[in-house]
Amino acid sequence: MAKYDETVVSEHDGIQELDNQLPRWWVILFKSSIVFAVLYMLWFHVLGLGDGQEQKYATLKAQAEAAQAARQSDLIASMDLSSPSSLAEVVNEGSNIYQANCASCHHSTARGLIGPNLTDAYWIHGADFEDNMQVISKGVLSKGMQAWESSLSLRQRHAVASYLYSIRGSNPPDPRAPEGELIEGSDSPSYDL
Ligand code: HEC
Repeated sequence: MAKYDETVVSEHDGIQELDNQLPRWWVILFKSSIVFAVLYMLWFHVLGLGDGQEQKYATLKAQAEAAQAARQSDLIASMDLSSPSSLAEVVNEGSNIYQANCASCHHSTARGLIGPNLTDAYWIHGADFEDNMQVISKGVLSKGMQAWESSLSLRQRHAVASYLYSIRGSNPPDPRAPEGELIEGSDSPSYDL
C-alpha cells in the first residue's frame, strides 16, 4: 500500500495537491519499462543480436523459397516419366541438356545437321514420346546416334525429350531434308497427348 502524506504541495482554486507516494506497482512498472527499453536498444540496435524486421522478413522468405523448391522437386521426383512434361523447370533443364549434348548433331534449333530434324513430322523411329525416349536411351549406334542412358539419368532423358516435344513444329529455318516416315500431326507439341 502507498503511504499517504497529507503535506499540501500546492493549491489552486481550492484544489489541493498532496505529496503522496506513487503506488509501488506503478513505480515498478515504470522502472522496468526503462530497463526494458535500454535492454531492447542494446539487443537490437547496439549489439545487433536480435533479428530486426528486415532480417526476419529475409529469413521467412528464404524458408518459404526453400519449401517451394522442395515441393517443386517432390513434384518432379513423383512425375510420370512416360509422358512429356510441360513444367518450365523441366523444359528449361531439357533445353540446357539439349544444347550441351545434342546440338552438335541435331543443330541448336533441332533443324537437323548430321542427325535428323527433330521438329518436323517425319520420324525414323516413331513419333511417340516413348519412341523418342527409346532412341535417346538406347541410341542407334550403327547410324551414329549415341545411347544416352549411361551418361544422362532417366530424369535428364525425360527432360530433354520433353524439351524436344515442346519445340515440335517450331519450323526452324533451313531444315534438313525429311527422313523417315511422315506421321500426320506429329509436328505439334500436343501430338498424342
Ligand atoms: C553424334 C551425333 C548425334 C548426337 C550427339 C545426338 N544425336 Fe540424335 N541422332 C543422330 C543420328 C545420326 C540419328 C538418326 C539415327 C538413324 O538414322 O536411325 C539420331 C536420331 C535421333 C532421334 C530419333 C529421330 C527419328 O527420326 O526417329 C532422336 C529423338 C534424337 N536423335 C535425339 C537426340 C538427343 C535428345 C540427343 C542428345 C541427348 C542426341 N540425339 C544426340 C545423331 C546424334
